[in-house]
Amino acid sequence: MSEPILILGIAGSLRSQSYNKAVLRAARELLPADTTLDIFDLGGIPPFNQDQELAPPAPVVELKRRIRAADAILFATPEYNYSMPGVLKNAIDWASRPYGDSAWNGKPVALVSASVGMFGGVRAQYHLRQCFVFLNMDAVLQPELAIADAASKFDSQGKLTHEPTRQLLAQLLQKLVAKARAAKSPQRVAA
Ligand code: FNR
Repeated sequence: MSEPILILGIAGSLRSQSYNKAVLRAARELLPADTTLDIFDLGGIPPFNQDQELAPPAPVVELKRRIRAADAILFATPEYNYSMPGVLKNAIDWASRPYGDSAWNGKPVALVSASVGMFGGVRAQYHLRQCFVFLNMDAVLQPELAIADAASKFDSQGKLTHEPTRQLLAQLLQKLVAKARAAKSPQRVAA
């Protein structure tokens, strides 16, 4: 048995029937051994207000606690108007503040997007990856998983049924967990 790894999954959609929320549920079925995936719903996070960053609202305190408790982050996001949804950027901004106290710093991260459109949300992914540079998050580069035409890849219960996509998601999770293990035990990797 290897050291347990905890991933925090965050969806960029608040929609009850969200495909991206469904991606996080599918990820739970595809985790490598000794890994768990906890899901944080962004529904309770208020709009960012820098006046409150030194004493943030309770849901933000909880978000930062959950990020810090996790070994890695998995974002599953839609693309809104060629970028990431405001609710996701809002949460990223809250948890990055105040300056010098970002909960994201150094976290291994992977991302996946799902869209009913034909590009799968890949443009939102590139905007997110841009944020990872300043946030100092260690992103998995490959595989890139942008789930296009999502309506054909999930069943009516929101289960991811498209086998090639399930395999890519499993690969992505393996890469993320490998990064998380390396970050936890750097001496083992260097040896
Ligand atoms: C969208 N959608 C969308 N899709 C896309 O591929 N590129 C885009 O730029 C946009 N823009 C966009 C803006 C807004 C405001 C909405 C509400 C939707 C469609 C989007 O991919 C689709 O609604 C997904 O199903 C949303 O993801 P969830 O909620 O299913 O996770």
